[in-house]
Amino acid sequence: MVNKLLSQLASVEILTPKIDDTLWFFKDILGLYEVGRKGKSVYLRGWEDWYTYSLKVTESDTAGVKEIVWRTYSENDLIDAINIVNSNGLGLGWDEGEPDMGIGRGYKFILPSGQIGKLVWEMKTWRASGELRSGYKARPMKKPTKGVQARDLSHIFIFAYNDGALAKTVELLKKLTFKVNEILKEGDKKIAYWMAVNGTAHDLAIGLDPSGVPARLNHVTFNVDYADDILRAADFYTDYGLEIVGGPLRHGITDSNSLYVKEPGGNLIEVLHGGYLNVVPDWEPVVWDTNEDGDRWLYYWGHVKEAFWHGSPIPATRISDELKEIVRQKLGAKI
Ligand SMILES: [Fe+2]
Repeated sequence: MVNKLLSQLASVEILTPKIDDTLWFFKDILGLYEVGRKGKSVYLRGWEDWYTYSLKVTESDTAGVKEIVWRTYSENDLIDAINIVNSNGLGLGWDEGEPDMGIGRGYKFILPSGQIGKLVWEMKTWRASGELRSGYKARPMKKPTKGVQARDLSHIFIFAYNDGALAKTVELLKKLTFKVNEILKEGDKKIAYWMAVNGTAHDLAIGLDPSGVPARLNHVTFNVDYADDILRAADFYTDYGLEIVGGPLRHGITDSNSLYVKEPGGNLIEVLHGGYLNVVPDWEPVVWDTNEDGDRWLYYWGHVKEAFWHGSPIPATRISDELKEIVRQKLGAKI
């Protein structure tokens, strides 16, 4: 028996050096709803995100990812998950949480790839009251009337800074009960993995970073309700001068429709529609090989620009001094 420890990706915190422009993108173009502000952070949600927020945008002197939050299935599963990260020497300690934002205490850790994760059990589901209450009883709030009407957080694609970091991160994530659905190889070398805890094709992906610098982000993705929303997004991005770096396209891996844009703060943001569900318990990962399959793993039709591979932050070493110190101490990595 495999006891699943993690239920889902709950939220992602990204950094931006252009907070006003980044918020314009997420609220006016993508159509996320602002639920609150504290200090230098703004909390946003899609209309069908189950918890209070799924995206925390924090003003900084750089771009990139600051924290990735996963919810566990229970308090006991939280303890088991903490024991796993601690037995790998990756624990960073308890965080008091933000009860006013529906999230209780959590345990922070560093992934072998350098990003900061947090494990949480105590989380409150969120439901609008008053004017925002939807007639669809399961829907947490009405759809917004503007923008792409992004539905909910789909996944995060993080970078690993070398082969060892990639292998160690995947090994840890498997212990945390992620199921690997698809793998990308370049000949004998594994270069990227798509995996999930929530039964979708992927709620997490990780691939080798050409920059070789720890803790970097490739992209964060929101689902849209209708396939046509991908085209509406492409239209908005073009009209409002945003740089499309990939798509509209059909991914080979995960079998889904996609579009990538660079938000004004420098982070790559994807909107996604479709993709398979897969809870097959004895699934053998599907393997793609760039030598045989070319780029079809990424786009069966459509196209991506070179900028897709750049990730954030740029320059690659521009991560915060605090994170650099944690990376040096916990991973022994040079940065
Ligand atoms: Fe993606």
